[in-house]
Amino acid sequence: MLRSVLIGTGSALPRQAVSNAELAKRVDTSDEWIVERTGITNRYIAAPDETTTTLATEAARKAIEAAGIEAASIDLIILATATPDQTFPASATLVQANLGCRGGIAFDVAAVCSGFLYAVGVADSMLRTGMARRALVIGAETFSRILDWEDRTTCVLFGDGAGAIVLEAQEQGGETQRGILATRLHADGTHNQLLYVDGGPSTTGTVGKLRMKGREVFRHAVVNLAEVLREVLDEAGLSTDDLDWLVPHQANARILDATAKKLNLSPDKVVMTVAQHANTSAASVPLALDQAVRDGRIKVGDLLMLEAMGGGFTWGASLIRV
Ligand code: UT7
Repeated sequence: MLRSVLIGTGSALPRQAVSNAELAKRVDTSDEWIVERTGITNRYIAAPDETTTTLATEAARKAIEAAGIEAASIDLIILATATPDQTFPASATLVQANLGCRGGIAFDVAAVCSGFLYAVGVADSMLRTGMARRALVIGAETFSRILDWEDRTTCVLFGDGAGAIVLEAQEQGGETQRGILATRLHADGTHNQLLYVDGGPSTTGTVGKLRMKGREVFRHAVVNLAEVLREVLDEAGLSTDDLDWLVPHQANARILDATAKKLNLSPDKVVMTVAQHANTSAASVPLALDQAVRDGRIKVGDLLMLEAMGGGFTWGASLIRV
């Protein structure tokens, strides 16, 4: 059976780390409040010369190097982002040019914090139907550019960064097939006023700033994520006990704890990077994944569940045998 096999991961962070204490000098907040409510202690903020595309390119180069392939052999690039360098062209085409790949497919996916999961789902479908052979799937964001730095309820929560993976279409057989085993994606647009940006090319002609009703998003996140994780496990005929790692979207340590509890999953199996990176939207899952691959926790043969939930609402999960 043709499967999309994970053959490399990479990530990139801006140069500047910003602590909670530094933020407390700018807005009425405290390290204690941020740590207690979110688990965040630090985030990285892009300088003017660091953009979604530069971070995406760096993460992509590392993933390509880890995969041990030539960049030119990539025939599909999907970049998940809500903070593209320009309204158009797609940032994926800029990354394609930076990497020196030509002629393949390149486009952006907009599903905010779930963007990486959506991109993985689309890439997997395209690889398994033969539209491409090697896919670069990237999540990259510079949310610092769309934050209202006077709004303490949102500006302390987010950070910038990028993560990337290379997927390759391979024939797999036998009991322990490598690759993406199942993916489920969902959206419910009736909730789009709970997490949104108050501007855009077709409405205000401006970029706009992020607005969120955090408590309500939290409530939906725990329910939706637990449901979609079960759905994906059911589709694959597996159970929580089979999982080696949960690599979740890193919005809030409390959401991760609550989701793990709902699933009866040991907290030791949850990859948590929210303390260091904060919420990097579409970048958070591949950033966490790359960290756990590079520090040796995730190994070939492990069964991973990736999941995310964000603006729209959109949410999804994907089960991968590394
Ligand atoms: O990535 C997309 C998905 N996004 C998420 O999953 C985010 C989900 N939501 C959350 O993570 C949490 O709801 C937040 C971290 C955003 C907020 O935590 P909370 O426990 O739900 O707090 P809250 O919004 O209910 O606010 C509690 C209090 C309020 O004060 P009053 O009204 O009780 O007097 C806020 O004004 O905390 C206050 N507050 C702050 N205080 C100090 C809000 N932000 C801050 C702050 N510093 N930065």
